[in-house]
Amino acid sequence: MTLYKRYADELAQLVADGTLQVGERLPSVREASRRRGLSEMTVLRAYHLLEARGLILARPRSGYFVQARPPRPLGRPPRSAPPPLATAVDKGAQIHALLAAIRQPHIVPLGSAFPSPRLLPLKALHGALNRSLRRLDPLRTVADLSPGNPELRRLIALRYRGDGIAVDADDLVITDGALEALNLCLQAVTRPGDTVILESPTFYAALQALERLHLKAVEVPTDPDTGIDLDALDAAVRQHRPAAVWLMTSFQNPLGATMPEARRQALVRLLAGHDVPLIEDDVYGELYYGATRPKPAKAFDSDGRVLHCASFSKCLAPGYRIGWAAAGRWTATVERLKLGSSLSAAVPSQLALVDYLSGGGYGRHLRKLRDTLSQARDSVIDAVQQHFPAGTRITRPEGGYFLWLELPAGIDTRALQQAALARDISLAPGTLFSAREDFRHGLRLNYGHPDDPRVLPAIATLGALIDGLARR
Ligand SMILES: Cc1ncc(COP(=O)(O)O)c(C=O)c1O
Repeated sequence: MTLYKRYADELAQLVADGTLQVGERLPSVREASRRRGLSEMTVLRAYHLLEARGLILARPRSGYFVQARPPRPLGRPPRSAPPPLATAVDKGAQIHALLAAIRQPHIVPLGSAFPSPRLLPLKALHGALNRSLRRLDPLRTVADLSPGNPELRRLIALRYRGDGIAVDADDLVITDGALEALNLCLQAVTRPGDTVILESPTFYAALQALERLHLKAVEVPTDPDTGIDLDALDAAVRQHRPAAVWLMTSFQNPLGATMPEARRQALVRLLAGHDVPLIEDDVYGELYYGATRPKPAKAFDSDGRVLHCASFSKCLAPGYRIGWAAAGRWTATVERLKLGSSLSAAVPSQLALVDYLSGGGYGRHLRKLRDTLSQARDSVIDAVQQHFPAGTRITRPEGGYFLWLELPAGIDTRALQQAALARDISLAPGTLFSAREDFRHGLRLNYGHPDDPRVLPAIATLGALIDGLARR
């Protein structure tokens, strides 16, 4: 037997007899090589072999860790297949119940839409807020009314430019979070009774927004990896003549789907051909795990038909409520709607973000956050693979912090949500994400709380609850 195989078997034995425990870190390659008198290459090949057997797991920049048991590979959820019908939306009560449950701090936040606040640079932000309040000039209150603080808009535009995306400061209207930006954009392009095309499943606040404005929803088949199906979208646009399409091109909530760049371009061309505006929700765009930020559809929009919305809520400062719209042809309308509804986003929040963004720590923070989230994704997927039943399907997103699961038929995730809440665990059941109550077996899991020691045990509890529901 070759040296590396013998060393791998020795380590496997230590795992089997419990000397090396689940979650324990193996010695670094250099350390093992020095201690055992083996070459680094031999140690590395042994580790790779154990990794291939599913006994250990490499975590980028942290080392190799023992895995609980060889994970059972789970399949991917299929592309959704809603019928091409327009539906009135009535989801308010269900959505409110979920949001009320996850607000309580003793609840394990698997149903939450936010990352752990402890992953965010709260101290630096507080410093920025204090400094900007000390410098606050009362005259600025007027200068920073909608469309918003000019320096903040310049800094946001600069970040887009840095990623090769042509957005000008003049194109931006600062809002109270992305949600307000999305709502104002929807209001700008629709009239009550109109139809809007959504992904299936879609972010539940899109359903709330449609309900509020008395709009009908058409849900279009969406692939958990590559996003909305363009042929189905084309057919739905021809059939329903919608006032708008509302979707997410990157790290879609809840699927985590990311449209390949060529499809984004095709999407913009398709909608331009039909003269239909696109409301693009890009709140997770900065949370990519790959080398570069996926370019939003806005980057391919040459005639102002894309209304692009984003915010700092998911990666920096949720409570500051600063978002923006780059609304193309509708910029002036959105600015007017913002003025008419609340005059402006809060001036201290705008100034604090100007101070923070000028400081230069944002890039470092984002790199660390992406790294942490990609590791968290892997450990939660591992836990799901260990504890959830065969037949569960799961996504593996390349950004953001949501997993989408489809449980075996017969498991209603609203029943699971109730059972989980009784154990102080929040969940987002699949029906939340559809106007038509589709996805009764679907589940969105937030993995953005890796610093919360309750999360992995909660996944094990869910596995047991699912077994219980399956036996009923
Ligand atoms: C997909 C999506 N869009 C928009 C928002 C709202 O973002 P903000 O907090 O900036 O209003 C959220 C937050 O949950 C979200 O998940």
